Amino acid sequence: MSTPTRTHIFVTGATGGLRSIAGYIGGSVVSALLSHPKSDTFHITALIRSPEKVALFNSVGVTAVVGNNSDLDTLTSLASTADVVLACANADDLYAARAIFLGLKKRHEETNTVPIFIHTSGTGVLIDDAAGNYATDSIYSDLDIATIESLPKTQPHREVELEVIAADKEGYVRTYIILPSTIYGIANTPLVSLGVQNPYSRQIPRLIEASLDRKQGGVVGEGLNLWPNVHIDDTATLYISVFDAAMKGPGGTAHGREGYYFGENGEHRVGEISEILAKLLYDMKRGKSPEPTVFTIEEMQKYFGGRWMGSNSRAMAERARLIGWNPVHTVDSLWASLKPEIEAILERRNT
Ligand SMILES: NC(=O)c1ccc[n+]([C@@H]2O[C@H](COP(=O)([O-])OP(=O)(O)OC[C@H]3O[C@@H](n4cnc5c(N)ncnc54)[C@H](OP(=O)(O)O)[C@@H]3O)[C@@H](O)[C@H]2O)c1
Repeated sequence: MSTPTRTHIFVTGATGGLRSIAGYIGGSVVSALLSHPKSDTFHITALIRSPEKVALFNSVGVTAVVGNNSDLDTLTSLASTADVVLACANADDLYAARAIFLGLKKRHEETNTVPIFIHTSGTGVLIDDAAGNYATDSIYSDLDIATIESLPKTQPHREVELEVIAADKEGYVRTYIILPSTIYGIANTPLVSLGVQNPYSRQIPRLIEASLDRKQGGVVGEGLNLWPNVHIDDTATLYISVFDAAMKGPGGTAHGREGYYFGENGEHRVGEISEILAKLLYDMKRGKSPEPTVFTIEEMQKYFGGRWMGSNSRAMAERARLIGWNPVHTVDSLWASLKPEIEAILERRNT
């Protein structure tokens, strides 16, 4: 009986930095790969900053290499032996992306194959300067490439996106860009159970942290801005849908210039999250009033640095649905996730 050909997969952001644990997205993606029907044909490698976690990763079948994303030679070397790289660490790390591309180019030259690069960006690339004070009518579709191409290089994540597309154009790699929106929900994966994955997202937990610190729910401006949302489990299946389609070959799904995949299953008014959190905190005796009050400029800088929390980012994830991505969590799951997020943060603060 012949041994199946192995697919070598290198995942960044499954790594763990200061906290020495896998990332929220990266850990969920690795967990989804481990339960993939073809997982016995995968050889998954992740960078680990902390040597003591190596054995835990090995115990679930992931090869852990000690290093970090600023070890550019290590990134190049690991990419040069990979058929697929899933970049889930930092959407804005241009140097890490370049180091990985050097390795993938080598892989192409040595094997005459065209490896796959799946990059994590975010719908933060679409943001405006609303500061919470209006809802925009501009809704981007990931099928409308001309409009995406009109985004200036100064938008968040855009510089790395452009480099990713340029690499695909050179022909030695096929690139796919995944742009999750507000990811929510506490990850519940085998890596979380092992204690090696960060189970928490960023945006909503930061809003809760800020509100707890000031003992009062807060809102950015008038809270009128809109964002899309996607549950962490649906985010993981989005990566797998793109991975599976990319593995079919160049015709499997769009790559390079057209290879944008938004992650969205509904949208919310950001102020509505603030309103619900304020009410929940008030009921839990953690907030002075059930109505959110406006964050000061100082609070905005401290907790949200940048303009994203008050911005609009409106997106329709049409391309991934064409290849069968079928997200199951609607905005109702987002509302249901808020109380458990508060409770989890309070528990972390008490431990
Ligand atoms: N969460 C969302 O809602 C969302 C939505 C859209 C896009 N994104 C983007 O997706 C990316 C990953 O987000 P996430 O939510 O998964 O964040 P996360 O939980 O903080 O995961 C990122 C992981 O990568 C590690 N990492 C970052 N830079 C590194 C470096 N130089 N060397 C080694 N490890 C490094 C982090 O280590 P540390 O623990 O030390 O930081 C962390 O373990 C970010 O760029 C984010 O902007 C996130």
